[in-house]
Amino acid sequence: MLLSIFFIFSFLFSSSNALDFCVADLSAPQGPAGYSCKKPEAVTTDDFVFSGLGAAGNTSNLIKAAVTPAFSAQVPGVNGLGISIARLDLAVGGVVPMHTHPGGSEILVVIQGSICAGFISSANKVYFKSLKKGDIMVFPQGLLHFQINAGKTQALAFASFSSPSPGLQILDFALFGNNLPSDIIEETTFLDDAQVKKLKGVLGGTG
Ligand SMILES: *[C@@H]1O[C@H](CO)[C@@H](O)[C@H](O)[C@H]1NC(C)=O
Repeated sequence: MLLSIFFIFSFLFSSSNALDFCVADLSAPQGPAGYSCKKPEAVTTDDFVFSGLGAAGNTSNLIKAAVTPAFSAQVPGVNGLGISIARLDLAVGGVVPMHTHPGGSEILVVIQGSICAGFISSANKVYFKSLKKGDIMVFPQGLLHFQINAGKTQALAFASFSSPSPGLQILDFALFGNNLPSDIIEETTFLDDAQVKKLKGVLGGTG
């Protein structure tokens, strides 16, 4: 009896040596598996807390939308845990254009307003719906998806991710917001020259 109690206690104490977390050391570069760990003695409560999601992001931009992330860079404590969250503000007429998160799946919950959201599978099947307050929608990892303010008021949602660094690539900016030559874009998209030049003008691309 005493011996088994001893073993239980020695197990409890030995397991306290387990790595509970790997708070990001933001001074070192990020690798595919995330950031390396801060020294345990340097970790503070604030590494697990972020107060930046209480206020609306600035939606005075082309897409009338703002995404405020709480990823490893903002909350070093999520590093290595496979989770993160972001705030999405959509002004009237706002849109998060077709985009992907290469590193994680997303689950969106609408807090205010109404959002038309959808994704396209790799079989090119479309799944979309108009979401209202309290609705959630799931966007599987890597798939193209979008969110549009479908109402006449400001919309607010929170998106959580199955990665502390889900990444974000917006299709239109990838195609028209850089110096990829117009003739290559035309050949690879079947769009005509006028359309490509127009979109490059809107999205800040050159060439
Ligand atoms: C929002 O962004 C716009 C465009 O960058 C800027 O002119 C404006 O001052 C910003 N507003 C606030 C409240 O930061």
